[in-house]
Amino acid sequence: MDIIWELFIILHANFIICISAQPNVPKIHEGWWAYKEVVQGSFVPVPSFWGLVNSAWNLCSVGKRQSPVNIETSHMIFDPFLTPIRLNTGGRKNICRREGGNADGPCQVGGTMYNTGRHVSLRMDKEHLVNISGGPMTYSHRLEEIRLHFGSEDGQGSEHLLNGQAFSGEVQLIHYNHELYTNYTEAAKSPNGLVIVSIFMKIAETSNAFLNRMLNRDTITRITYKNDAYLLTGLNIEEIYPETSSFITYDGSMTIPPCFETATWILMNKPVYITRMQMHSLRLLSQNQPSQIFLSMSDNVRPVQPLNNRCIRTNINFSMQGKDCPNNRAQKLQYRANISGQLLHKM
Ligand SMILES: *[C@@H]1O[C@H](CO)[C@@H](O)[C@H](O)[C@H]1NC(C)=O
Ligand SMILES: *[C@@H]1O[C@H](CO)[C@@H](O)[C@H](O)[C@H]1NC(C)=O
Ligand SMILES: *[C@@H]1O[C@H](CO)[C@@H](O)[C@H](O)[C@H]1NC(C)=O
Ligand SMILES: *[C@@H]1O[C@H](CO)[C@@H](O)[C@H](O)[C@H]1NC(C)=O
Repeated sequence: MDIIWELFIILHANFIICISAQPNVPKIHEGWWAYKEVVQGSFVPVPSFWGLVNSAWNLCSVGKRQSPVNIETSHMIFDPFLTPIRLNTGGRKNICRREGGNADGPCQVGGTMYNTGRHVSLRMDKEHLVNISGGPMTYSHRLEEIRLHFGSEDGQGSEHLLNGQAFSGEVQLIHYNHELYTNYTEAAKSPNGLVIVSIFMKIAETSNAFLNRMLNRDTITRITYKNDAYLLTGLNIEEIYPETSSFITYDGSMTIPPCFETATWILMNKPVYITRMQMHSLRLLSQNQPSQIFLSMSDNVRPVQPLNNRCIRTNINFSMQGKDCPNNRAQKLQYRANISGQLLHKM
């Protein structure tokens, strides 16, 4: 008995020594994941490994309602019960519009822009709350963070695809259900926890006014390295939205570990624009700290996941788009209640 116990102690001690003597032994913690292989250094799990390295993240591998997805527009279903999305900034819209981006009007918001090593992330301050409702939402959801994904080349960099095509980037406005949960962390792991509004980014001559505030040279160069932060104030959140009330919605997940399947996605039906120069500045952001080698943050995207049996709904009424639209058949997929019985039947 004593011998076995001694042996155990020796083995145990050995184990501890091994770990402390090897700096490259992977440490499982919530930040231990990456989008791409690192050129040098130790192994860091890329998307196909996220669900395998940490049991708390197994949804990343086995989940059946994962995001992002490829949206095949021919498979969308027109849902006449989707109401427009309502943005509540606590201010009067006309005042917001008149004062523009400079004045400290009631609809102005602020936040801190971070280089997280993976994304450009604007975390909203808690003084000026923005929440959204309507659309597929049953609850009001509060804006927590705006996150940017982008590519190393034009035509790649968005997480969602539209008919197999990527855009040069994707803006994700991450909201949590503030009616049911006290904070983002609580909501992210709970039913009906998150609503993420996604807006594709395209390159053009002029840029979206909101993104212009984040991506102008003076601002973006302040967050070149990981953990850099910069305070932004006087932002008008309405400006990030493209001029459309059309959207596409489906139920999915967070696109980063732990991949919880608590997110309702709303993809706006029009992109926003940034300039070639601004895209270039994004690609010059490093995933690393200044003391480490430069590694561009671009291509910070998770590959698309299987749609499985999920339904993609839209408030776009296809039948108004003329006979050519192949989506007319989507109308046939709608269900109608069987008045004489309790069962639903296909039209
Ligand atoms: C949404 O936010 C505004 C403040 O911006 C607040 O007045 C309002 O009560 C919020 N809505 C809900 C449903 O909580
Ligand atoms: C979020 O709320 C939960 C429950 O109310 C609390 O335990 C936790 O500390 C909060 N987390 C943060 C980051 O505020
Ligand atoms: C969809 O469009 C068709 C054709 O214009 C129209 O008859 C129908 O009422 C529309 N449905 C809704 C819910 O707007
Ligand atoms: C409606 O439901 C009843 C009872 O389930 C069934 O007998 C009937 O065939 C259904 N009608 C149609 C049109 O599906």
